[in-house]
Amino acid sequence: MNQDEMKREVARAAIEYVETDTVIGVGTGSTANYFIDELANIKGRIEGTVASSNASAERLKGHGIPVYNLNDVGDIGLYVDGADETTRHLQLTKGGGGALTREKIVAAASEKFVCIVDDTKVVDILGAFPLPIEVIPMARSYVARQVVKLGGEPVLREGFTTDNGNLILDVHGLSIMEPSRLEAQLNNIPGVVTNGLFAMDPADVLLVGSSSGVETVR
Ligand code: 5RP
Repeated sequence: MNQDEMKREVARAAIEYVETDTVIGVGTGSTANYFIDELANIKGRIEGTVASSNASAERLKGHGIPVYNLNDVGDIGLYVDGADETTRHLQLTKGGGGALTREKIVAAASEKFVCIVDDTKVVDILGAFPLPIEVIPMARSYVARQVVKLGGEPVLREGFTTDNGNLILDVHGLSIMEPSRLEAQLNNIPGVVTNGLFAMDPADVLLVGSSSGVETVR
C-alpha cells in the first residue's frame, strides 16, 4: 500500500466515529481531504460540518455537504483531522497546511478529536517536522528573535498568508522534549496567534494507517 492508499484507508476508518444527525468538525490537508470524500458517501446521515479552513469548506461544499460557521452551532461531537507528526501519546505537530489556528479552535470546540495519519507520521520525539507558528504580520521579526532564544531556527513561509490574514514561521532544529511546556511558552510570546503543537490538549483517538491495516491508539 502506498502513502495515499494508507491515508484513504485511515480516513475511511474514521467514518465509524460519525454519529447520525450530528455536526462534524473537519480538518485540513490531504488526509482530511480523503475524510471529506468519505463523508460525501454518507452526507444524508449528518446534519453538516464546521471546516477548519477555506480550502476544506470549498471541498465540502463541492460535495454538497452543508458547512456551518462555528458561531452558529453548539459544541461539536467529533473533529477529524490529520497531523504532520504524532507521538504514541497522541501529542501532535500540525499546521503544515497553515490552518493550525482554526484547527486548534475547532478541535477545542469538539468533544472528541480523532486524528488520522499514515505510519510515516508516527515519531518518538516531535520536532523533525518544522513547527509552524502563526504570527501577526507586524510581530514577525520580534517573534522570530524570541524563537531563536528558545533554540529554534524560524523560517518565514514565503508567499503564504493564512485564512486569518497572518504569516507562518516554520521553526526548524527543535527536538521537543516537553511539548506542553513549549506550546505554552510559544503561545505566551506577544504576536503569536498560536503554534502547531497539540500537546496540552492532545488527540483523543489516533488512527494509524499502515500496509498491515489501521491501528487504533488511545
Ligand atoms: C494542516 C494540517 C494537516 O493536518 C497536516 O499538515 C497533515 O497534512 P497531510 O494530511 O496533507 O499530510 O495540520 O494545517
